Amino acid sequence: MGIELKDVSKTFEVKGRKVEALKPTDLIINDGEIFGLIGFSGAGKSTLLRLINLLERPTTGSITVNGVALDRLSEKELRIKRQKIGMIFQQFNLIESKTVYENIEFVLKASKFDRHQVKSRVAELLELVGLSDKVHSFPGNLSGGQKQRVGIARALANDPEVLLCDEATSALDPDTTKNILKLLRKINKNLGITIVLITHEMEVIKEVADRVGVMSDGEIIETNDVYNIFSHPEHKVTQGFVQDIYDFVIPPHIVETDQSRVITIKFLNENAEANYVNQLYRHFDLEISILNGRIEYINDMPLGFLMLHVQGGSGEIGKLKRFIEESKGIEEAEIYE
Ligand SMILES: Nc1ncnc2c1ncn2[C@@H]1O[C@H](COP(=O)(O)OP(=O)(O)OP(=O)(O)O)[C@@H](O)[C@H]1O
Ligand SMILES: [Mg+2]
Repeated sequence: MGIELKDVSKTFEVKGRKVEALKPTDLIINDGEIFGLIGFSGAGKSTLLRLINLLERPTTGSITVNGVALDRLSEKELRIKRQKIGMIFQQFNLIESKTVYENIEFVLKASKFDRHQVKSRVAELLELVGLSDKVHSFPGNLSGGQKQRVGIARALANDPEVLLCDEATSALDPDTTKNILKLLRKINKNLGITIVLITHEMEVIKEVADRVGVMSDGEIIETNDVYNIFSHPEHKVTQGFVQDIYDFVIPPHIVETDQSRVITIKFLNENAEANYVNQLYRHFDLEISILNGRIEYINDMPLGFLMLHVQGGSGEIGKLKRFIEESKGIEEAEIYE
């Protein structure tokens, strides 16, 4: 179950010129996970997302959502299946001339609900997104965060199995973004809805995603658990996205020689909270001073960095480097710029 893309590609043709928005791609998004897609503008993120509900028809390949091959459905079957795939957008896409109630009612009318059911369903949805008091407001009188909550309520109206989010928090300030991401988490956990979320901010991925795919130039260049993407980014583009947490600068007055080195150690998982520093002081005949350090928590798992200035014999410094290399759970950190 979940979402499966097999050899899916999309080529647009504009004035006789071909744009390969998505190169042939295989991707599995597991049932019940929050999968983040990150990439620069034009990388092909929205195209990929719109292929998942067949708003775009693939040029090649097949798309399966919870066991149903969408590309084999008739238009009518597809319309019904699409009700089980909710979508929210950066610009909220609400109907400005309708109230919050009517915006949600509009979606429900398209399905099986009768008038009485609609009323209680709208109330239920607004309760879920924390907006019960705005039922008769117009979008124009709501804040960005409140508008997105309406967008979410609407997307959930028909009990979807999947929620697609295209830059859903890009128009919001950082605090509001956090609150909306918290709401998405809650929806994912409590309702078991699989979420695919596009962003260009690593902060959003860190806050909410379980796994992430990095896109560049119409390709998914790297896929991994969010923790692994941060701790071991492989592709240059990925390293660029996570560089903020690797942003350690060697103080200019420190001159590196054979007897004076700057070493940045990366601590993985629970090792970030273990007491390695004591060991270093105790076991090596070196002068060690701390230049910088930090711990990031990613899905509640610590990822630690410690930048040290070590001085002493070059043999002893070599020994320290070997100790780091051979110890499980710590490694020398690369600095990405
Ligand atoms: N309907 C279309 N017709 C022609 N070209 C398109 C169409 N939609 C997308 N493209 C092109 O496909 C490429 C990928 O676009 P896409 O919108 O998927 O990127 P994106 O990663 O979502 O970018 P952004 O972060 O700016 O939203 C771009 O070069 C874009 O110009
Ligand atoms: Mg886009």
